[in-house]
Amino acid sequence: MIDLDRIGRDRLPALLRAMPKAELHIHIEGSLEPELIFKLAERNGVKLAYPSVEALRAAYAFTDLQSFLDIYYAGASVLQKEADFFDMAWAYFEKAAADNVVHAELFFDPQTHTERGVPIEAVILGLHHACQRAHAEFGITSRLILCFLRHLSEEAAFEVLEQALPYREYLIGVGLDSSERGHPPEKFARVFARCRELGLRTVAHAGEEGPPAYIDSAIDVLKVDRIDHGVRCVEDPGLVARLAALRMPLTVCPLSNVKLCVYPSLGQHQLPALLEAGLVATVNSDDPAYFGGYINDNFVQTFEALPQLGARQAWQLARNSFEASFVDEALRETWLRRLDEVFAGAG
Ligand code: HPA
Ligand code: ZN
Repeated sequence: MIDLDRIGRDRLPALLRAMPKAELHIHIEGSLEPELIFKLAERNGVKLAYPSVEALRAAYAFTDLQSFLDIYYAGASVLQKEADFFDMAWAYFEKAAADNVVHAELFFDPQTHTERGVPIEAVILGLHHACQRAHAEFGITSRLILCFLRHLSEEAAFEVLEQALPYREYLIGVGLDSSERGHPPEKFARVFARCRELGLRTVAHAGEEGPPAYIDSAIDVLKVDRIDHGVRCVEDPGLVARLAALRMPLTVCPLSNVKLCVYPSLGQHQLPALLEAGLVATVNSDDPAYFGGYINDNFVQTFEALPQLGARQAWQLARNSFEASFVDEALRETWLRRLDEVFAGAG
């Protein structure tokens, strides 16, 4: 038995960085750093609205989800060729390896690219080859989750699903992202039903800016395996109890929540309450290039800001990330053993 309560707070930052973890909520287009945006813009002859890397970075002051999405979609316009998608994902995997991420499930937004005439093959194969290389070089396992843009129609979601089907073997599941308010999960009931028939796992952003009712309908109507964000569940105690009883994972992204003004500061984040309620909460980076940090930055800064979070919660969050991941049992058991070894060594 590991004595987690004996591990002092001074040891936390190093432990949070060293512990093996899975990242389950990362929009790969949100890992595109300004330097790479400029490099790809030059390579592809794309004219950017900002004169320099510094000017672009200075524009990353968001007031809500939509103000971020406008800049995020503009940044993604430099992605045109398979090599661009590979380079973007490879840059992420280098960061992930340094952060001791052993498994990553990457979201990607094909409609952002196919609408500009980029073939979906270039998107999926570029990302897939980066995933293969991450396994060969770093031992990181990874999966791809195709996200539908919820501000577009369900018909458009069906179209992109059709285009993706020749590459079905490279996908573990589908998700739902982009502007949440006014676009409830019900809008995508039929396309999610089709995806489940195809054997795809399902996740959806819900309860980030949208109301707690969207979390219920993501579960009831879309029949999701995980909720992305979900932090607004705390407004409904009955929903919190339901999520706990279902062991429905929440992929929480603390720095994102502060940057998009869901919480005024990390010190007011509800992560401790979610863990206290027994929820399968995890910590993730969402769009690290835009929100000020990768997964370890999220862990270290959140634990620094919240004194209720200690070694026990660190262990629980890493454990939850493996429980919530879409991998087979044998691999999950291997990681859980490795996690316990790291904490036993620190105790
Ligand atoms: N929320 C919704 N859609 C997104 C996000 C997010 O945080 N990041 C990229 N697309
Ligand atoms: Zn997200």
